[in-house]
Amino acid sequence: MKPKVYVTRLVPEAGLNMVLKSCDAEVWEDELPVPREVLLEKVADIEGLYCLLTERIDAALLDVAPKLRVVSNYAVGYNNIDVPACTAHGIPVGNTPGVLTDTTADFAFALLMAAARRVPEAVRYVLDGRWKTWGPKLMLGVDVYGATLGIIGFGRIGQAVARRARGFDMRVLAHDPFLEALPPALDDVEVVDLATLLAQSDFVSVHVPLTESTHHLIGPSELAAMKPHAVLINTARGEVVDPDALLAALTGGQIGAAALDVTEPEPLPVDHPLLALPNCLVAPHIASASIATRNKMAVIAAENLLAGLEGRHLSHCVNPEVYARRE
Ligand code: DGY
Repeated sequence: MKPKVYVTRLVPEAGLNMVLKSCDAEVWEDELPVPREVLLEKVADIEGLYCLLTERIDAALLDVAPKLRVVSNYAVGYNNIDVPACTAHGIPVGNTPGVLTDTTADFAFALLMAAARRVPEAVRYVLDGRWKTWGPKLMLGVDVYGATLGIIGFGRIGQAVARRARGFDMRVLAHDPFLEALPPALDDVEVVDLATLLAQSDFVSVHVPLTESTHHLIGPSELAAMKPHAVLINTARGEVVDPDALLAALTGGQIGAAALDVTEPEPLPVDHPLLALPNCLVAPHIASASIATRNKMAVIAAENLLAGLEGRHLSHCVNPEVYARRE
């Protein structure tokens, strides 16, 4: 008999077909996330869960999923999952690292450039019929080349952003309390404390996971410490930046602009004051959204799911201690 699994959204066929072939799978096919009460019912008799960052996988869910043997998250980030609770239940949790590194870094750089050179504002200006002539002071932005880029969180994605900055002759500062050593190819990056990074950077790009210690890491005092023309880029998790503090900093001229792929909350309500600001650019959490990368993520998440169902170690497991517990 094929194992029963639940897939919480229509993911790319490359991965979905692997699951459909090997499992007795039910798929939530709506555009919007599966409601919590439906998910709690669906997990009652499943052995595998293929989920997204829009689902909260917590102790309450695990308590009503007695047969669950593997949770496979279609994302590299896993702040939606109570990992210690999964470990306590003996459940390995999979994620999709690596394949989205460069795609996400590309998008962080796209946001950086778009905010620096006011691309969304300029496009809207033309569409609104306001383009009358070439203007010496029209849509003046800030230069990217030669500027200083501060990268908070110097893991895979932060380092990929640093590599891109090279092509723009940028000085790169990095802050990461968990960084043991710079990779040789990036030995010109200056590792600094957070205060130095904020004070000296023209662009600040955030690449930390969301944890208790990074929640609102960028708040009123961090924004006040930035340069008045600085641009903040967030492609990590919305909750890393305090949205009220950001609103105050953007309207009060403490920083120049923000470019956000992630927000708190998500989605940002259409009447949210951040969306009314010309110097705040918001995208709908699409940094990893290239066709190739989303296909690869779907395959890795499927492989993790199938490995867990077959009792094999997941290739990408965020709680490998779960195996020590078992063996
Ligand atoms: C992730 O993988 O964590 C991204 O936020 C979505 O790709």
